[in-house]
Amino acid sequence: MFVRARSSALVSRAGLKGGSVFPPRTPRFSLSARTLSTTSPRSQTHASLVEFGQRHVTKGIGRQVEAIIEKGEGSYLTLGDGRKMLDFTCGIAVTNLGHCHPKVSAAAAEQCMKLVHGQCSIGFHGPYLELIQRLLPMMPHPSLDSFYFWNSGSEAIEGAIKMARSVSGRQNIITLQGAYHGRTYGALALTKSKTVYAEGFHPLMPGVFTAPFPYWHHFSLPPTTPASELTSLCLNQLELLLQQQSAPKDTAAIILEPVIGEGGYVPAPPEYLKGLREICDREGILLIVDEVQSGFLRTGKNFAIEYSGVRPDIMTVAKGLANGFPLSGIITRREISDGLRPGSMGGTYAGNAVACAAAVATADAFKNENILENVNARSKELFGYLEPLRSNPAILDIRGLGLMVAVEFASPTRTSVHDPLRNPHAPAKLASRVAKRCQEKGMFLLTTSAYEVVRFMPALNVSKEDLKKGCDIFVEAVDEIVREG
Ligand SMILES: Cc1ncc(COP(=O)(O)O)c(C=O)c1O
Repeated sequence: MFVRARSSALVSRAGLKGGSVFPPRTPRFSLSARTLSTTSPRSQTHASLVEFGQRHVTKGIGRQVEAIIEKGEGSYLTLGDGRKMLDFTCGIAVTNLGHCHPKVSAAAAEQCMKLVHGQCSIGFHGPYLELIQRLLPMMPHPSLDSFYFWNSGSEAIEGAIKMARSVSGRQNIITLQGAYHGRTYGALALTKSKTVYAEGFHPLMPGVFTAPFPYWHHFSLPPTTPASELTSLCLNQLELLLQQQSAPKDTAAIILEPVIGEGGYVPAPPEYLKGLREICDREGILLIVDEVQSGFLRTGKNFAIEYSGVRPDIMTVAKGLANGFPLSGIITRREISDGLRPGSMGGTYAGNAVACAAAVATADAFKNENILENVNARSKELFGYLEPLRSNPAILDIRGLGLMVAVEFASPTRTSVHDPLRNPHAPAKLASRVAKRCQEKGMFLLTTSAYEVVRFMPALNVSKEDLKKGCDIFVEAVDEIVREG
């Protein structure tokens, strides 16, 4: 019914336009309209629903699997075709406590019956304030004491840019090569991991400059390059950028991920982060630390920036904050947020009460269920399973922190014929082929970056057995694909 009604509405609207641009046409469903109108989605076959989705969901979204995700429980997803998949993606580092954590889901359900929408420009609501109480002791620096919750990571980035520009009175933002900060226009302008995100969408927000991130690839150096060398190369390039392209007096902020996510799962060396802090302090530039993917215990600390002891001026969070409920945060010190005019921040759904209640339960579970201990124990095991692969010439690097871990493969083509790290003997497209083979063997694993990289981000409470199972699948898949050549 729904499908037919919407289609005929579209057709009649098209008719009103005179039919020249959108001529009235009979909807072309491969399923009969009768099937769709008389059966609930649940009674339709899995294949027919997938086909329906392929036809009507925008082509702008890429998918790993042409299937319907029916159920999530802990580290597993059940698909509509009956497959039960080990999920080492966590919905891109979101369901850190596993799918449908009972306490998080229960807290959300309870909040649903009390208050769903407590609009932030009308008044406070309880879960919003409770969440701040839970987060304050988790902050990487006690100065971070002013919170604003939004829905997505991209929105948090937009808010952070606005805050930095307005408070500093400067316009330019320096981002880093390989960064991913989102797909909305401001966030997209700061995203430098792959051109696919911006191709065809220019012009983006102006006033953005790019400095290199300390990833050996960016300098065509080998993976064994010492962090100290990468640090001095990158800090020197940044100093040059401030002299040649964006004067400090025009530069509002430098934004970075302490572990670049979509750029290859590369942790920034602590000495580099300290160098950034020094430059920011010297020049009055704000340091925005994007912990959207690396935050909330993912790297073995509450926040990845803690490895360096560096103080962020503004920190953005999302993903693991509410274990799957849409919620993000922009956190700063009151001295900065006190400069904002009331009304300059806000959003209809910002800091939704159900999402905040879920986030409170998530923060409680982090503490009560010894999640940090599990991350660090499982991380050691994960590196233990992967380390023997280093002797395989198809493997270029194994790196990461906590349960944010990557394996980089050799490549015959990347990044270009000029790349000295190109290995003409390596099989092509190893990352995506291995990820696909893992999928065939019952595990979701994601690739990342412009390079041949797969990333491991299992649930932070993944069991010893499931971690081993996932690693066994991966090692087997690598072995098969490399042998196939
Ligand atoms: C570091 C980082 N920042 C920002 C974002 C954007 O978040 P969202 O997809 O919720 O808009 C992402 C998403 O992957 C991210 O990894």
